[in-house]
Amino acid sequence: MKIAILGGTGKEGFGLAARWVELDHAIVIGSRDAERARAKAAELRAATGCQSITGASNRDAAAEGDVVVVALPANGLASTLPDVRDGCRGKVVISTVVPLTFGTSRLFTPPAAGSSAEEVQALLPEARVVAAFHHVAAHELSETEHEIDCDLLYCGGDADAKQVAATLGASMGLRPLDIGPLTNAGPLEGITAVLATVNRRYKLKNAGIKITGV
Ligand SMILES: NC(=O)c1ccc[n+]([C@@H]2O[C@H](COP(=O)([O-])OP(=O)(O)OC[C@H]3O[C@@H](n4cnc5c(N)ncnc54)[C@H](OP(=O)(O)O)[C@@H]3O)[C@@H](O)[C@H]2O)c1
Repeated sequence: MKIAILGGTGKEGFGLAARWVELDHAIVIGSRDAERARAKAAELRAATGCQSITGASNRDAAAEGDVVVVALPANGLASTLPDVRDGCRGKVVISTVVPLTFGTSRLFTPPAAGSSAEEVQALLPEARVVAAFHHVAAHELSETEHEIDCDLLYCGGDADAKQVAATLGASMGLRPLDIGPLTNAGPLEGITAVLATVNRRYKLKNAGIKITGV
């Protein structure tokens, strides 16, 4: 499968790419600057020894991917996604986006749509959006020799699209748990604010989440 990662030059997208490329997926890293994406792709080829990693503009990456992952900051969605709408038509689009605002009294700052994933769906109406991977920290992903001790909670409106996200998570050792429709993305994204606060308070880097009783 070819996975396009919009904002794949950042920490989260890069970590996901590092995991998936080792599972034999092809990766195309997207960026606002195609040259920066190509440089990051070269860095990942060198780090992993895997050759099936390329870089492109976000628009070209979206057009190339079988699955598109949105690993952008929340405040970059409105300026980026209209340009990739055609490339994402009919595709599974996985949003990792968490609307956090650091340095203010309110860390979790969801948009008017209710969640970043719902904003992604509104901006890409023909895509099949799934919200997932919010609780897996970038450095956990990039240290590919370590197992990740975390559940993959995901939600969305399309059962087949959710199965794709679940399979991509399970392939890297996460336990997938379906938490229903995309309208649950707000609480799902909000848990990341809790995890970030736990990390800060207990001087950790890798707080994660596991659901008991399942
Ligand atoms: N880091 C984590 O541990 C983690 C964990 C779970 C979820 N997340 C979520 O995943 C998303 C990506 O996280 P990240 O830490 O990788 O973010 P990041 O490094 O801040 O940004 C990712 C990439 O997005 C592009 N970008 C930055 N500002 C932009 C803007 N205003 N408009 C369009 N593109 C912009 C940049 O790429 P170019 O400059 O190359 O275009 C950047 O490399 C965020 O929503 C974050 O909340 C992060």
